Amino acid sequence: KKGNFEHFMQKEIHEQPDSLTMTMRGRLIRGEQRVKGVLLGGLKDHLRTIRRSRRIIFIGCGTSYNAALASRPIIEELSGVPVTMEIASDLIDRQGPIYREDTAIFVSQSGETADTLQALEYARANGALCVGITNTVGSAIARGTHCGVHINAGCEIGVASTKAYTSQIAVIIMLALALGDDSISSQRRREAIIDDCFNLPSKVRDVLKLDQDMKELAMLLMEEQSLLVFGRGYNYATALECALKVKEVSLMHSEGILAGEMKHGPLALVDETLPIIVIATRDGSSSKQQSVIQQLKARKGRLIVMCTEGDAQSMCPDGTCRVIEVPQVQDCLQPIINIVPLQLLAYHLTVLRGFNVDQPRNLAKSVTTQ
Ligand code: UD1
Ligand code: M6R
Repeated sequence: KKGNFEHFMQKEIHEQPDSLTMTMRGRLIRGEQRVKGVLLGGLKDHLRTIRRSRRIIFIGCGTSYNAALASRPIIEELSGVPVTMEIASDLIDRQGPIYREDTAIFVSQSGETADTLQALEYARANGALCVGITNTVGSAIARGTHCGVHINAGCEIGVASTKAYTSQIAVIIMLALALGDDSISSQRRREAIIDDCFNLPSKVRDVLKLDQDMKELAMLLMEEQSLLVFGRGYNYATALECALKVKEVSLMHSEGILAGEMKHGPLALVDETLPIIVIATRDGSSSKQQSVIQQLKARKGRLIVMCTEGDAQSMCPDGTCRVIEVPQVQDCLQPIINIVPLQLLAYHLTVLRGFNVDQPRNLAKSVTTQ
């Protein structure tokens, strides 16, 4: 059932305008007569409890963890509740403290990941409100949580998670909008985000047109040993997720790095041979990314810059970087746009290097053992 596509991963990347539409269907309320808002059926009776909780803890593994990380800033901004992040296995290893006043949000495409499930049992035993964000109705995590949201992205077959990632981010942003619903001061901001949610499928369709460019970039990079990806703010998660995709399917070493940490170690790696992707789309931290680009160039770094359409000149004035230009959306939604060309890059790298796209070496779609 791959249709016109050669691989499920490719099909699922290209499906994202539709999967995002399905994720948001019936949940976003348009403006006009009624005030713009969000309706998450599975959470409406629990929003007050979540708003009043002392802390929100996101728990997941791999790509699902990255999706939560991408949406953490907007949850903090619109809810005012402190948010912490936990990789499920690490929470269990530490037996980290969880309290009755906490809301623990479990993010999992399959809803069956053993580590996440064990963390759920642990959080429930400690009395936290347990919320699920899953793609699989009837899954263990959907059943074991007190409430939650199905992402409705449709069945994902490729081991590399792609459309589930963008739908998970969309759901967590809708959750942030719902949690902020009682605040008048953030109303304009919320309306602007909702407007852009409606634009998202068509913007994703636009960015999918970079397919050929990403194939050409993959041809340039296919013989490399390693690829670094620098991001910060909303797009720190984009850097981690790009690196995870590249390593898991194309079997090339790749590392996502928080750009603010550059001088604390990674800068030592920079030379004229190692390729580095810098995510520098327009937002509150893009001027800092501009200076990161300058510092990497001063060390002769081999740069591939992802920036907002029209910003190529200002981000790379001497024209020596390879540039990926993407359409702009509200800052919190930008990670959904930015990851798409990077998913395509990982896909093409894998095909060109001759590896199995849908069944990467040593990996399983659902990790049900620890
Ligand atoms: C629900 C229906 C949907 C219908 C819509 C109409 C289901 C699965 N969904 O969608 O078909 O079109 O009403 O109003 O029947 N839940 C958890 N943990 C999770 C995920 C979900 O406990 O990890 C719970 C929710 O709290 C909720 C239920 O499962 O009680 C369904 O969640 P969801 O599908 O997101 O709800 P709706 O979007 O309202
Ligand atoms: O089903 P889950 O979302 O719980 O799975 C979590 C990870 O195993 C998963 O995201 C994994 O990292 C993917 N293969 C990444 O593409």
